[in-house]
Amino acid sequence: MPTPSIDVAAPSAARPPPSRPAVALLAAALFASAAACSSSGAGAVTSPDAAPIDAALGDAPAALTWHHDVRPIVEARCAGCHVSGGFAPFALQSYGDAFDKRDVMAIALAGKLMPPWPPNDACNAYTHDRSITDAQRATMIDWARGPAVEGDPATFTALPADPLTTIRVDKTLKMATAYTPIETPDEYRCFVMDWNEATTKYVTGFDVRPGLTPIVHHAIAFLVGPADVATVTSMDAADPAPGYKCFGGVGVNAASWLGAWAPGAMPSSFPASSGLEVAPGSKIVLQLHYNTASAAAGPDQTSVDLQLADAVAVKGAVLKFTNPSWVLNHTMNIKAGDPDSVQSFMVDPSPYLSRFVGGALTDGMPFRIHSAALHMHSRGVKGTLQIVHADGSRDCALQIDDWSFHWQGTYELQKALQFKPGDQLGIECHFDDSGARQPLVSGMPLSVADANWGETTEDEMCLGVFYVTP
Ligand code: HEC
Repeated sequence: MPTPSIDVAAPSAARPPPSRPAVALLAAALFASAAACSSSGAGAVTSPDAAPIDAALGDAPAALTWHHDVRPIVEARCAGCHVSGGFAPFALQSYGDAFDKRDVMAIALAGKLMPPWPPNDACNAYTHDRSITDAQRATMIDWARGPAVEGDPATFTALPADPLTTIRVDKTLKMATAYTPIETPDEYRCFVMDWNEATTKYVTGFDVRPGLTPIVHHAIAFLVGPADVATVTSMDAADPAPGYKCFGGVGVNAASWLGAWAPGAMPSSFPASSGLEVAPGSKIVLQLHYNTASAAAGPDQTSVDLQLADAVAVKGAVLKFTNPSWVLNHTMNIKAGDPDSVQSFMVDPSPYLSRFVGGALTDGMPFRIHSAALHMHSRGVKGTLQIVHADGSRDCALQIDDWSFHWQGTYELQKALQFKPGDQLGIECHFDDSGARQPLVSGMPLSVADANWGETTEDEMCLGVFYVTP
């Protein structure tokens, strides 16, 4: 239950989505050279066995080889997750790995299931974009559906790597004890971590190190201020196992979001010399989403690495944006059976800015949006976050066309968006409550029922999370 306070505009309940720039450990960028690589590959015969087949069949993609055409894309866009002991269920690190998985690769690629990159890139450009071009997708599918030859290792050229973001680790917070999830396939749990700093600090960089990588599906660190510490520690104490059960939030509305992580995410360094203030006496609550669908449960002890500063040039803030009425008055009526329940809201938040961001910005000021994340639960289908400027022009911050609760992310804009008083911020979410996207509880879909705003699996949310600075 969201608590009726004005902070609700920023319902901490809201489980802000994971992952900073979603990802790609390795390469990114360079679509141009990647495309060039695959198109030249299509014509160049690099494997002796492939040549005659190609010539004989005309358009058969026999000329494509692993080393020349496919390996550069796999190393840049797949191997970061598909590494042995990694988060993905199998490795894609060698010709043998890829050859064995070629059928399922072709299916996953054709269905656009892989690589996971939910944002519509026509909306905006993000750092660490892990999407692949249509040409790269076609190359990989053609190779996988053809003879899938290995080719000559000497013809391999790596795609230029995505510049890695690194942070200086000033503080590491680790779960006090290891926890083995018991619910399958999904379990959501909150772990309270001590902050132990005597003076005000600013978090300027954030990273998560999953303990048992294959089962850690998301992690979000919430900042719980001194006033709410008793609430989380009593929830923790009331649950005999380590941590406590939580889903849409951490159980404290005013908790703000320090950082979030999903598999493949890079460490994030906060933009524009900014940081998030943490008062002494606070606690950090780490919300973990465990998924044991394709890996066995085992003890996990995840930790959070932080880069800290005593002072920052610019105070940043997390702006959690939604319709306060959805939260306060339960007006987000998603009707049972409705295949497309549209919930949208648009407002100029600047007159109430300090309340949306817990005081880090003052009312009436312009601000810049550096990253955007959308949060819905399982009935979510698609959604958009945008600025509609006073002159009617629009800036799309994030558009997700095929929402998956399992692939939430925070997407860092390559170029910050400017919001001025008089502009409006808009959020729109589409939900399918006809049955296809019913929430699973212990692996079983719930029966179709009306849904409304709330923290639990049965409830829904439609929330935008922005990292903003003046
Ligand atoms: C951000 C991490 C990540 C990246 C990057 C990634 N994968 Fe995956 N992949 C996964 C996970 C996790 C699964 C297991 C299914 C799931 O959770 O969606 C998976 C599943 C698969 C599957 C099996 C699908 C099925 O239906 O069983 C294939 C094939 C696959 N990936 C291929 C690729 C290829 C090819 C690339 C690169 C173009 C890629 N993946 C990039 C994480 C990733």
